[in-house]
Amino acid sequence: MSQQKSPPSDPVERPSLEQARDEHATLAREIAEHDKRYYEEDAPTVADAEYDALRRRYEALEAQYPELAAADSLTRTVGAKPSEKFSKIRHRVAMLSLANAFADEEVVDFVERVRRFLQIKPDAELLFTAEPKIDGLSLSLRYEAGRLVSAATRGDGAVGEDVTANARTVDDIPQVLKGRDVPEIVEVRGEVYLSHVDFAAINERQAAAGKQPFANPRNAAAGSLRQLDPSITASRPLHFFAYGWGEISTMPADTQFGMIEAFGRFGFNTNPWTRLCTTVEELLAQYRAIEAERATLGYDIDGVVYKVNALALQARLGFVSRSPRWALAHKFPAQQATTILDAIDINVGRTGSLNPLARLRPVTVGGVVVSNATLHNEDYIRGIGGNGEMIRDGVDIRIGDTVIVQRAGDVIPKVLDVVLDKRPPDSMPYVFPTHCPACGSHAVREVNPRTGKEDSVRRCTGGLICPAQSRERLKHFVSRNAFDIEGLGEQRIDELFADDLVRAPQDIFTLEARNAGKLQRLENRDRWGATSVKNLFAAIAARRTIAINRFIFALGIPHVGDTSAKLLGRHFSTFEAFRAAARAAADPASDAYAELTSIGGIGAVVADAIVEFFREAHNEELLDALLAEVTVEPAEAVTSDSPVAGKTVVFTGALEQMTREEAKAMAERLGAKVAGSVSKKTDIVVAGPGAGSKLNKAKEFDVQVMDEDGWFALVGRT
Ligand code: IVH
Repeated sequence: MSQQKSPPSDPVERPSLEQARDEHATLAREIAEHDKRYYEEDAPTVADAEYDALRRRYEALEAQYPELAAADSLTRTVGAKPSEKFSKIRHRVAMLSLANAFADEEVVDFVERVRRFLQIKPDAELLFTAEPKIDGLSLSLRYEAGRLVSAATRGDGAVGEDVTANARTVDDIPQVLKGRDVPEIVEVRGEVYLSHVDFAAINERQAAAGKQPFANPRNAAAGSLRQLDPSITASRPLHFFAYGWGEISTMPADTQFGMIEAFGRFGFNTNPWTRLCTTVEELLAQYRAIEAERATLGYDIDGVVYKVNALALQARLGFVSRSPRWALAHKFPAQQATTILDAIDINVGRTGSLNPLARLRPVTVGGVVVSNATLHNEDYIRGIGGNGEMIRDGVDIRIGDTVIVQRAGDVIPKVLDVVLDKRPPDSMPYVFPTHCPACGSHAVREVNPRTGKEDSVRRCTGGLICPAQSRERLKHFVSRNAFDIEGLGEQRIDELFADDLVRAPQDIFTLEARNAGKLQRLENRDRWGATSVKNLFAAIAARRTIAINRFIFALGIPHVGDTSAKLLGRHFSTFEAFRAAARAAADPASDAYAELTSIGGIGAVVADAIVEFFREAHNEELLDALLAEVTVEPAEAVTSDSPVAGKTVVFTGALEQMTREEAKAMAERLGAKVAGSVSKKTDIVVAGPGAGSKLNKAKEFDVQVMDEDGWFALVGRT
């Protein structure tokens, strides 16, 4: 008989501080995971009562040991207590995000990139708008016949929450639009925010009512808009700036600036700091001007957004991944704080990288308590700038040092500098381990065969025998954009791994069969129970068929993220085709290698990593074992109704009406695959003047050939 531990909600004898700290941290992770599933994914995996019990236990621990209630405690975050859900609204035009830049040079690159993409002559003018990036939450307001019909939060970009009733209580959001040129349908997008003064007043009221204060105006604005009771929203003076749009039946202007002016005429507030700029210098001057005003604006901003002004050019530039090529968010420098580096831990990543992590004396940076920060790699600690990053030439980082920590948005904090004056006289340079802390194997720095340079990352050579690698790989395998198996989160992987029940991905799929005969069945474990095991097996079974992009991403090939996996899936359609191409690409002179690197968004680094992955026999073995358990679904048929959707296109020769990059982006936007060389699989060759061997090959394979005019006649001027 297995011994049942008390369920988490039960009162226990007073735990020691150490025990309480452990349990508190475990509960925090568990609750955060449930919150994510509930709020972000709308797919809770536990009953409300079970969730409430976890929360109560968490709060009880904090009541016993107030020192556990740090500023980032879940008891202080917004929307902590789920009650009911909002209904959803699918955005007809996705709500995307912006690419970020921190340094001036990145702005220079952005402008150059745009000019190059559009082939704008050096002396020709190109206009941009520059406006504050409001630190609030974005909202999409739909008007039909001039009347507000719905309001949706951004959500995951595709589907947001219906907050219409709440939006109607916001004074800055017109119920009815003004003016003669209001389109029949228009979705106005912008940012909901709170002023500093109102934020302070709300927090005072919260405190007076014995409620937790909000951490910052953004959280308060989000918490106020996402209220189930609109009268609460109405009592919070939310504001709104309009800066963009979604679906729109007729365009009131043909420039970004003109659109903002139109929104002003319709009755919206638009940001008075919006300016038109022509050069990088003007953009940067506007950035500095806005930064200088930051403290006096009365609301939070976190940067300046630059947008190409002409909408026709925006359309040509299109999007890459989830952000437009025509815009850039130039963020203000992150917040910093000084603290002491108590220790350096080494974490072993999924690909075996030894990642140094700074353990810091806890310090508040921009309202968040930070106790860990990244130290990047061995060279960064040694002060010799491996991959270009270093503190200052020759300055190393030592345990005991007073360091400056920086936090930027959601990214993991980093150790930015050392205060040398405060370095203890007896400190010693840090000696980076040469053996993996997880498995004891040698950890080496590989030499890149292409560049001949030593990699700045030290990697464990243990491969799959290294528990850290296989465990991290498993966690990646079940993660949200990979297999995303409900009920199989990081903690359960840890547990199953520790007990040798799941050591490799394929083991997940044999778990049920093995469980049937086992004495120590999963059902008998603490916190599992018959229902959750049954649900887990059902969730695993449901994933025996998996979309190709998820499957490729799940493999954890270095550099192959979610976006690359999608591109690869779309390009090769079936996993067999991808696998065959990846094997054939082992020769960098092969057509297969050329095909791989010709896929928009897949560069040499990704291609090389793919080739390396398939070169490893143990990876091939893993694939065979896995494919015996799961079926990979081919990429979904392209839904675009363009005549080139699903076709393979090759552009060759000099293109005169568009750049090569633009041509490729356009074809891909229309659902075509763009290849670098002509083969039997090619459907269309678009040949400009000077086309040579590819044109001959096209004739040889009887492929349809057209010039640029023919291409535009086929696809239209999109
Ligand atoms: S334009 C296609 N303009 O920043 C993307 N966004 O990091 C259109 N934001 O989700 C966004 N101020 O919530 C734009 N002036 C501004 C903005 C702004 C704040 C937010 C917005 C967006 C996020 C992207």
